[in-house]
Amino acid sequence: MPAHTHDHIDWADRLAHLRAADALDAVAMATAARRLVAALPPRPTIVDLGCGAGGMSTHFARELAALSGGTVVLVDATPALLEEAERTVADKHAAQGRGPVQVHAILGDLADTGLPHTLPPADLVWASHVVHHLADQQAAVGTVAAVAKPGGLVALAEGGLDFRCLPWDLGVGRPGLENRMLAAQAEWFIGMREGIDSAVPMPYGWPVALDRAGLTEVDSFGALVHHPSPGPDSLADYVVNRIDRLREFAGDQFTAEDRTTVDALLDPDGPHFVGARRDLYLLGAKTIHCGRRP
Ligand SMILES: C[S@@+](CC[C@H](N)C(=O)[O-])C[C@H]1O[C@@H](n2cnc3c(N)ncnc32)[C@H](O)[C@@H]1O
Repeated sequence: MPAHTHDHIDWADRLAHLRAADALDAVAMATAARRLVAALPPRPTIVDLGCGAGGMSTHFARELAALSGGTVVLVDATPALLEEAERTVADKHAAQGRGPVQVHAILGDLADTGLPHTLPPADLVWASHVVHHLADQQAAVGTVAAVAKPGGLVALAEGGLDFRCLPWDLGVGRPGLENRMLAAQAEWFIGMREGIDSAVPMPYGWPVALDRAGLTEVDSFGALVHHPSPGPDSLADYVVNRIDRLREFAGDQFTAEDRTTVDALLDPDGPHFVGARRDLYLLGAKTIHCGRRP
């Protein structure tokens, strides 16, 4: 049984952040879930590969409950996240008390080409921001596609636009800090890919990867995540955690001035504490690439 992933990331440690992101994404992703479920036959089976804290599957379960029911299968390689996802989806669904929706949780590694044989054939396979953590992304897209039954839908959330949440001029340090943090994150991402054993380059975009996996009707749509200032109550905490994480990613890529600025933004007792600002917002976009198994 897999107890770790291939990217050397401690995913269990990211649970709180994933949960907070699920809450902030909820409106956008509920709309995406409705659109995907509307294309499925009655009482479908949906498999959520790399389900994380389970946010998207709560939307799937809600949509199924509002129709004639169905099955949601959660799959992840991190036991703590899988347990959380199962609890979250089951709790939210139980709270609604509507149609028959079965929820199953299966510990599994997307790098395992035998994984499709351990899962029920799916009417919809959903894999969000997990394939880019695998050594061979094209092979992983092939495995995702093999989980779909013939005629089934495959939906991959990858790419999109990273979140922005800070004003350009923070009144401390050099303006444009968020641009530099995101550039540092892009460098971290390259290092993360290089750190995966036997990583294989995939020098083309996700729709091409779906096409090469033999899927038809390949198409993409976007989901806008937008909370204008001041945003929901949870936003300030999310931004504090996000900057803390970006500081980790940046390591020594930051100038001494930017390091000092970030320390000031994260000091809850200081005058520049970012968690006390009223001008935070959240703006980003997810891209969902779809295809159908012939
Ligand atoms: C960035 S999170 C995405 C979570 C969720 N799908 C979302 O979009 O919010 C990546 C997830 O993939 C899982 N994961 C990473 N490598 C995996 C692998 N080889 N097989 C299965 N799950 C994996 C992690 O445990 C984590 O839950």
